[in-house]
Amino acid sequence: MYLNIEKIRKDFPILAQNVYGKPLVYLDNAATTQKPLSVIRKIEEVYSTINANIHRGVHHLSQLATESHEEARKTVQRYIHASSANEIVFTHGATESINLVAGSFCRSQCKPGDEIIITTMEHHANIIPWQIQRDITGVELKIVPIIEKGEIHVEDIEEHISSRTRLISIAHVSNVLGTVNPVADVIRLGHNYNVPVLIDAAQSVQHFPIDVQTLDCDFLVFSSHKMYGPTGVGVLYGKEIWLDKLPPYQGGGEMIAHVTFEKTTFNGLPFKFEAGTPDYVGSTALGEAIRYIENIGLENIRRYEEHLLCYATEKLSQIEGMQIIGTSEHKSSVLSFLVKGIHPYDMGMLLDRLGIAVRTGHHCAQPLMDALGIEGTLRASFAFYNTEEEIDALAAGIEKVAKMF
Ligand SMILES: Cc1ncc(COP(=O)(O)O)c(C=O)c1O
Repeated sequence: MYLNIEKIRKDFPILAQNVYGKPLVYLDNAATTQKPLSVIRKIEEVYSTINANIHRGVHHLSQLATESHEEARKTVQRYIHASSANEIVFTHGATESINLVAGSFCRSQCKPGDEIIITTMEHHANIIPWQIQRDITGVELKIVPIIEKGEIHVEDIEEHISSRTRLISIAHVSNVLGTVNPVADVIRLGHNYNVPVLIDAAQSVQHFPIDVQTLDCDFLVFSSHKMYGPTGVGVLYGKEIWLDKLPPYQGGGEMIAHVTFEKTTFNGLPFKFEAGTPDYVGSTALGEAIRYIENIGLENIRRYEEHLLCYATEKLSQIEGMQIIGTSEHKSSVLSFLVKGIHPYDMGMLLDRLGIAVRTGHHCAQPLMDALGIEGTLRASFAFYNTEEEIDALAAGIEKVAKMF
């Protein structure tokens, strides 16, 4: 299908504005994506028509709001091809989803000295929760290094597996390098050793189709705000056998079956992991965002964004002093770079004055920066509403700034 980008852009009101008198060029989509009108209107619609606390009310509005939340759960289930809606837990974001697994898993499945494997290219959200558990439960972290081009070798992961390995937790796509990791191979490897695998899909689920049953991952996490949905909502997918086994992460309303001061029994899945009033407005709007993505088609998105990434890589590579950080053949929508002699922060600030929004800094991946021997990078990250003209503007902007130094 040919994507009508001009028409798509009209769905995103924020993109039409000027910044410092220049048309906004929004290339910070890995940090957060913009929202289509249908998502913005859905939030207004829920608050204007069906707002009521869910699950607990017998009244009309409460039932409508409950249906809306549970319908959104089914939409997420369909989107990632989970076998049951019970396997979809709503959280506040990918970060909370990983904290949930780290907390519940290490507490119930690990003994001091047991090992969790992560990689050098992880976002802090897939490092710190495990470090916190290391300090509480005595688990150890094993770190798989990256090789040149910014890739992970499955053989290197295998070398880190021992009889004490309890879980592998790995990014599907690096938010700095753009590398698409061979997660299907990692999951197969893990399962050969009876080790479950968590996939951090925060940078993949919006870019190409994911089928959790085909992948056979044990856990998968992502955030709504990076996939055109609202902030403050996230998803934890977990195989039912795992979610059944794990203890609750937080206590409170919604997650209980019966409470006395002596003993509490817990609700079934997925409610056992959803303590307190859930963000039913956010979940409903996430469902709307998924419908928006599905209407365009994830395969179409994948193809178009791949084209944008190739175009941008070629274009930027022609700039004098350009160094692309992360050169794997398997990349998705993220282009990190440095320009010789110019601090990323200075370049980012001056690009902003030209209306161009890129990210600068360590991108919540300081250990990766240390491994690369750099302080930070500039990062342009693409969504399906970006255009070749915007990439031309980025390249022209970088050249203009470079001339000032
Ligand atoms: C790879 C990766 N994992 C996890 C996260 C955390 O996402 P959130 O801040 O939405 O919880 C991010 C955010 O940038 C990310 O890029």
